[in-house]
Amino acid sequence: MARKLAVIGAGLMGSGIAQVSARAGWDVVLRDVTDAALTRGTDGIRASYDKFVAKGKLEAADAEAALKRISTTTDLGAAADADVVVEAVFERIDVKQEIFRELDRLVRDDAVLASNTSAIPITKIAAVTEHPERVVGTHFFSPVPMMQLCELVRGYKTSDETLAKAREFAESTGKTCIVVNRDVAGFVTTRLISALVVEAAKLHESGVASAEDIDTACKLGFGHAMGPLATADLTGVDILLHAAENIYTESQDEKFAPPEAMRRMVDAGDIGRKSGQGYYTY
Ligand SMILES: NC(=O)c1ccc[n+]([C@@H]2O[C@H](COP(=O)([O-])OP(=O)(O)OC[C@H]3O[C@@H](n4cnc5c(N)ncnc54)[C@H](O)[C@@H]3O)[C@@H](O)[C@H]2O)c1
Repeated sequence: MARKLAVIGAGLMGSGIAQVSARAGWDVVLRDVTDAALTRGTDGIRASYDKFVAKGKLEAADAEAALKRISTTTDLGAAADADVVVEAVFERIDVKQEIFRELDRLVRDDAVLASNTSAIPITKIAAVTEHPERVVGTHFFSPVPMMQLCELVRGYKTSDETLAKAREFAESTGKTCIVVNRDVAGFVTTRLISALVVEAAKLHESGVASAEDIDTACKLGFGHAMGPLATADLTGVDILLHAAENIYTESQDEKFAPPEAMRRMVDAGDIGRKSGQGYYTY
């Protein structure tokens, strides 16, 4: 019998996780608070499968079968018999804690409760449950069907068994996992990109090199697909500033302290591609 996955939140990440999991044979129930959100989520999944079919990377019959494995609901109780639950709702600790409190009461004893949070400590989410040992971070990347990485995050009390089950789940969807052994702010991935972006912003602000040359150094010198300042513009300078500030606050490590000019850019609304101006003009 196929194993059951419950995905809480049918937004960008939740629908992507549902999509790759159904494709991998999981029976998926996708939960959101409104029917409109669920329809948006499943429409996105269907459109994405169609693209894979059009490119010859997926058989139409397999796409159809995967879609049939996804059901939708507004009832959190549908997670009661799931083997794995992945939460992918808004990045707000109060909202996530409320969901984990409820899930903790209703899921099977051997279920894994995972959060897709990109920055909230897993330990703080797990702390509201009676069983923090079964709570873990499964940090997928966007767009989920394309990006190969899943960052597994151990909370302070996550058990080895939970981590192993989370790995098995993520690998079944075709992802490669890395393990974050200590629940530090920014995990591994956001710490690395924050350190690089903050240093690039400092070099830029102090006139050491132009944005183009800093990015070219990373692309041609280190083989990065994209330079750090172009990455900041794409992700949103505001988002990366917030991430770096959060890591700096938690770690008190100066290398994550964002430079003043970066803050002023954000104050002025120059936050990258979405505003038309960031380190580059669009
Ligand atoms: N967007 C990214 O690039 C990215 C990458 C990695 C991780 N994340 C993390 O993944 C999570 C989800 O991000 P997203 O970009 O998919 O957000 P999103 O805004 O696209 O989707 C969030 C969804 O959660 C739903 N929701 C809110 N409260 C709910 C509840 N109580 N029960 C069920 N559904 C509820 C909303 O209706 C919405 O559909 C966040 O924690 C985010 O930090 C995002």
